[in-house]
Amino acid sequence: MEPTLTVHDLTRRFGRRTALEGVSLAFGRGVTGLLGPNGAGKTTLIRVLATTLAPDAGRVAAFGLDPADREQRLAIRRRLGYLPQSPGAYPHFTAFELVEYVAILKEIDDRRARHDEVRRVLAEVDLGDRAHTKVRRLSGGMRQRLALAQALLGDPDLLILDEPTVGLDPEQRMRFRALLSRLGASRTVLLSTHQTEDVTTLCERVVVMRTGGVVFEGTPGELAAQAAGQVWLTTTPPEGTFWRTPDGRYRTLGHRPPAAVPGEPGVEDGYLLLLGGEQVAA
Ligand SMILES: Nc1ncnc2c1ncn2[C@@H]1O[C@H](COP(=O)(O)OP(=O)(O)OP(=O)(O)O)[C@@H](O)[C@H]1O
Ligand SMILES: [Mg+2]
Repeated sequence: MEPTLTVHDLTRRFGRRTALEGVSLAFGRGVTGLLGPNGAGKTTLIRVLATTLAPDAGRVAAFGLDPADREQRLAIRRRLGYLPQSPGAYPHFTAFELVEYVAILKEIDDRRARHDEVRRVLAEVDLGDRAHTKVRRLSGGMRQRLALAQALLGDPDLLILDEPTVGLDPEQRMRFRALLSRLGASRTVLLSTHQTEDVTTLCERVVVMRTGGVVFEGTPGELAAQAAGQVWLTTTPPEGTFWRTPDGRYRTLGHRPPAAVPGEPGVEDGYLLLLGGEQVAA
């Protein structure tokens, strides 16, 4: 299958700081999760992919189009839904007005069709009954859902979401997962998250970044498998870093503590070992 989105040897610096270095990736249909510690370069990569930031070097192609070219960039944007990490606030707009404003920018020109589309995306994020509430009167999680609603306008072929699940309560996270797995069946969805559970429950592929580079690319199962034979459960606290499990045992990663039994590796274990194996295992 032709990938929707490819980047090749991407580099982006901010002053002397390198935010991306030699990143090459391809994204096709389905949901891909982007994991990585704070400052890894996730938002920088996402902004380049969403055509809001130009790279210093490297190539980007979305739908075979080049965002460095103004006309082609416009054509990409017409097929793109984007949720930035810090969406603008517009506190005096109502929820409806805010989404409609973006719908106008997205050139949904017919007033009736536009209003129907605004109502549709507000319903998708369960904000139908808050359409006429001012943004400043919405809760943090509701604002996050409103920002997601505007990304869904026009049913884009490519959805790029920077930490979309931040601040969502469990019920809304579940709705979000249902929505994205439905969309991912026929579209390309890329989301960044710090919740390894989002990756486990939602993503077909996962990319892990660290200090501006890609350190892992594969399925969630393959990421979990990075921790195979390195997850241990004990009944007394082991040395080093450990955490208590709900059943009262202690869980640790890395070397086998005395009298430990093996635990089932998950995505989070694979991620932790991949990034900080030594510290976690110390
Ligand atoms: N506009 C900017 N000006 C200067 N430096 C920046 C800018 N944006 C990002 N950086 C730097 O680039 C690096 C990568 O930042 P980025 O925002 O891409 O990380 P991230 O993986 O999204 O982190 P987080 O998980 O905290 O959102 C960091 O060192 C950051 O300080
Ligand atoms: Mg970020």
